[in-house]
Amino acid sequence: MKSTVVLLGSPRHGGNSETLAEALLKGAGDRAGEVFRFRLAEMPISGCLDCRRCWSAGKPCILKDPMSEIYNALGKSDLILFVSPLYWYTWSGQIKPVLDRFLPFSAGKPLFDLKGKKAILVSTAGDTDPSCFDGLRFSFRTSCKLLGLENHSEILAHGIYKRNEIDGTEWLLQAARIGENLS
Ligand SMILES: Cc1cc2nc3c(=O)[nH]c(=O)nc-3n(C[C@H](O)[C@H](O)[C@H](O)COP(=O)(O)O)c2cc1C
Repeated sequence: MKSTVVLLGSPRHGGNSETLAEALLKGAGDRAGEVFRFRLAEMPISGCLDCRRCWSAGKPCILKDPMSEIYNALGKSDLILFVSPLYWYTWSGQIKPVLDRFLPFSAGKPLFDLKGKKAILVSTAGDTDPSCFDGLRFSFRTSCKLLGLENHSEILAHGIYKRNEIDGTEWLLQAARIGENLS
């Protein structure tokens, strides 16, 4: 990879989903290229206004907020990690506005888009039934299709509720292996 964008959707520093993403990145080492981490809980990013003015000012969006940093990084990257705890059986409220702001990549006449980039979904959930991820998985897969992203892999760790509960689990090994096999 030339570079990787990591969208961290948990408000917890060093939380379960972040630990999982870091295991992948550690496994990847230099294969991930330059890594741009975005701790979304700390970035005041607005939702989409549905103004349909994507690209009208030569940029993806007319809004002036830290999403511009993410757009810049996305333009350069060839891998995107979507990292979110499962909240109400879907994305966390921290990452959802960022996803909504992906509209320019499927609207108007994009100056650049996400086609062909690799995407990896990383999520943890307290529920012990793996089907808890059905909604999130559907959203991820259909969004990848729409955006032309290659769904590289999905790491979905169920039964992980309390802080640090991810430590010592098989999920971390799975994440590291996916990182090691990135090309
Ligand atoms: C607001 C909120 C909503 C949650 N909703 C769900 C849910 O719908 N299903 C589930 O299995 N776990 C749910 N959880 C538990 C988290 O998904 C779980 O604790 C996860 O491991 C947290 O990851 P993190 O440490 O990366 O934030 C919720 C937690 C919070 C705080």
